Amino acid sequence: MVSLKTVRQSNAALQAFPPGIVAVFAGATQGIGLATLKQFAKYVSGPKAYIIGRSHEKGKHIIDQLKILNPMGSFMFIEAQISKFAEVDRVCEEIKSLENHVDILCMSMGYLSLGGRVETPEGIETNRALQLYSRLRLTMNLLPHLERSMSPRIVSVLSAGFEGPLDLSDLDWKSHKSYSVFKAAAPASTMMNLFFEELAKDHPTVSFVHSFPGVVATNNVDNMFAHAPGLLWFPAQIPRYTVVPLLNMFAAISPDEAGERTLFLATNARYPPAEDHIEARKMGGFVDRPQGVPFAASTIMKEGRGNGVYRVNSHGETCKDSALLKGYRKDDIGKVVWEHTMRVFAEALANRDENGNGNENGLREAEANVSDTDSLDFELDLKS
Ligand SMILES: NC(=O)c1ccc[n+]([C@@H]2O[C@H](COP(=O)([O-])OP(=O)(O)OC[C@H]3O[C@@H](n4cnc5c(N)ncnc54)[C@H](OP(=O)(O)O)[C@@H]3O)[C@@H](O)[C@H]2O)c1
Repeated sequence: MVSLKTVRQSNAALQAFPPGIVAVFAGATQGIGLATLKQFAKYVSGPKAYIIGRSHEKGKHIIDQLKILNPMGSFMFIEAQISKFAEVDRVCEEIKSLENHVDILCMSMGYLSLGGRVETPEGIETNRALQLYSRLRLTMNLLPHLERSMSPRIVSVLSAGFEGPLDLSDLDWKSHKSYSVFKAAAPASTMMNLFFEELAKDHPTVSFVHSFPGVVATNNVDNMFAHAPGLLWFPAQIPRYTVVPLLNMFAAISPDEAGERTLFLATNARYPPAEDHIEARKMGGFVDRPQGVPFAASTIMKEGRGNGVYRVNSHGETCKDSALLKGYRKDDIGKVVWEHTMRVFAEALANRDENGNGNENGLREAEANVSDTDSLDFELDLKS
């Protein structure tokens, strides 16, 4: 286990690094992403962050607060509906036109829901788009820029260690009548790992981290109960005002701790890429590995060298090896997931009229899930 003290020491060492670390955050308008962004602003000297989110007002509010935290930082908000791949592409083009390189890509967008399937205008289940496909597309689009970094890292905050079997005849669960984000979560986690492993084969100078943050006291469970559909809303208010506050108070870790730990995953040499960084004339991480803390084990290790992909738990440790993933690797299911994902992208982007518009009704439904915290009454805790 990597102690929080070690994590904080490592993050504090980022201050010694010259200004100019560039990070892209998706899902950082609240929760774990926002907490990581805050730690990035706090620790990095002259940080540069692109924050992709769906509310310009909220973005402006966050930037105002980050500026107080670090007046030397550059913080840019890009408004986009990131569940749509066309929007992912637009945002990536904008970032690429403004930067020569990107060092860190941190992705944590998604929501919990008691409802069923809600599709984006491009015909993709919205939560699946946010937790899986948009993350993979952001990653692919930004990889050429990441490869120009001295220490390129991709961190996807999701559910490493909670992988589940795939329905190979229906990877998107389209035929599953009772679709739920909970049932779809474990296969999505499997697909995230396998896709990262495919990408790492062609991009050996990049580290790919899929993390499970632990139970974190963010608003995501509260939002789920607050937006429970139909008659479910009434019983949902009972756990919302009883179990959830107790869980947050006694069992969950704070968003700040999750943010510190996610920044560590994004910057410490404990999680190096596959290629020897000295040979590649790069760094294994912006901060050296702490004394006494070994290299993390990659998902595939051969003759002492890893593939640069990590499944990491809430303590910064590699998750236990998974028999399920081993079997999928043996059967080359990574390729199946890759080809499927390419088809999903192509079909979704074709699912638009000549003006580039999709069925915006789907988007409106998904937007019904906007969290209560969209009101701008939150403040970043600038002290911690
Ligand atoms: N918190 C936990 O205990 C926990 C545990 C395990 C895994 N995770 C995973 O970690 C990730 C982050 O969780 P969190 O607790 O930080 O969540 P959160 O506080 O609810 O934040 C979620 C982020 O996703 C964005 N988002 C939600 N719905 C969206 C939509 N329809 N379109 C575009 N963006 C949308 C939110 O943007 P807005 O600000 O615009 O709403 C926000 O930036 C999630 O994938 C979650 O499943 C969390």
